[in-house]
Amino acid sequence: MIANAPTPPIPHIIDGKQTAEDIKAEIALEVAALKAAGKKAPHLAAILVGHDGGSETYVRNKVLACERVGFGSTLLRFEDDITEAELLAQVDDLNRDPEIDGFIVQLPLPAHINPEKVIEAIRPEKDVDGFHPMNIGRMVAGLPALLPATPSGIVELLSRQGIKTSGKHAVVIGRSNIVGTPVSILLAKNLDTANCTVTLCHSRTRNLAEICRTADIVVAAIGRPEFVTADMVRPGAVVIDVGTTRVPDATKKSGYTLKGDVNFAEVAPLASAITPVPGGVGPMTIAMLLLNTLRAAKGEIYPNPAS
Ligand code: GUN
Repeated sequence: MIANAPTPPIPHIIDGKQTAEDIKAEIALEVAALKAAGKKAPHLAAILVGHDGGSETYVRNKVLACERVGFGSTLLRFEDDITEAELLAQVDDLNRDPEIDGFIVQLPLPAHINPEKVIEAIRPEKDVDGFHPMNIGRMVAGLPALLPATPSGIVELLSRQGIKTSGKHAVVIGRSNIVGTPVSILLAKNLDTANCTVTLCHSRTRNLAEICRTADIVVAAIGRPEFVTADMVRPGAVVIDVGTTRVPDATKKSGYTLKGDVNFAEVAPLASAITPVPGGVGPMTIAMLLLNTLRAAKGEIYPNPAS
C-alpha cells in the first residue's frame, strides 16, 4: 500500500436487527401496561396459503415475534387449492372476530386467487400490512393510516440511525405496491423523518446507473440478486437493500443463501452506511407489523370498539 494514500471510509453497517429489537422492547412495555390496566393483549392473525419456503419463514418469524412482545397470535394455514371464495370467507371471519385486532394474508397467493380482491376484503381497521386502498389513500393524503410495514420500517431505520433525509435525493429502484411505490411516497412526505427529493426507477427507466449515481440514498427493492453494483453508487451514499432472494447454495445446510438486491462486497466499501441481508430491513418489517397491530388494538387510527 502507498504511504499516505487516502483510506476509504469505513462503511457503517446498519444493524436492523438491533433497531427492531429496540422497537419490540418498546412494544412489549406497552403490552405489559395494557395488560396491567386489565385490557386484553393485542392479537395478530396470519393467513398462509401453500408451502412457499420464503413465505413460511416470514410467517413463522411474525408469529414468534408476537410471542416475544406478549401478543396473542393465530396462524391459519391452507393448501394452495383453496378457492378464492373460501379464502374470502376466512378473511370475513377474521374481520368479524373481536379477538383479532389485525391480520395479514401472506403474499404471494396462488395464481387462481386475485390478491387485490383479497386485500380489498380486509377491513381497513384490521389491515396491519397497510395494503388496503383505504390505508394507501390515507397515507398519500397525509391522514393517519396503518402504514405498510417495510416502507415505514425503512423510514424508521433511517431515523433511528440518525441518517438525515431532509433535502436528500433518494433513488428508489422498483415500483411494487408492497415496497417501491409506498416508500417513494413516504420518503417525499413533509416530515422530519423524510423530506427527500425522490426518483422512482423501474424496468423501463433509461440511464438507471446514471440516476443511481446521483442518489444520496439508494433503496433497492427489485428482487434481483446483486443488481446494484459499485458503478451505480456514489461514494458516501446510504444504501438500503430490501431484496431477499433465495439463491441455491450447496454449501449451506438449508440449500440456499439469502441474497439482497445489492452486491454487498462491491458496494459496502463505497457507502457511508448500508443495510446487510439478512439483518437489515427484514427485521424492521416485522417490528413495524407489530407496531401496526398495537395501533389497531388501541384504536389509534380507527376507533376499535374493543379498546
Ligand atoms: N410478502 C412479501 N412481503 C410481504 C408483506 O410485508 N406482507 C405480506 N402479507 N406478504 C408479503
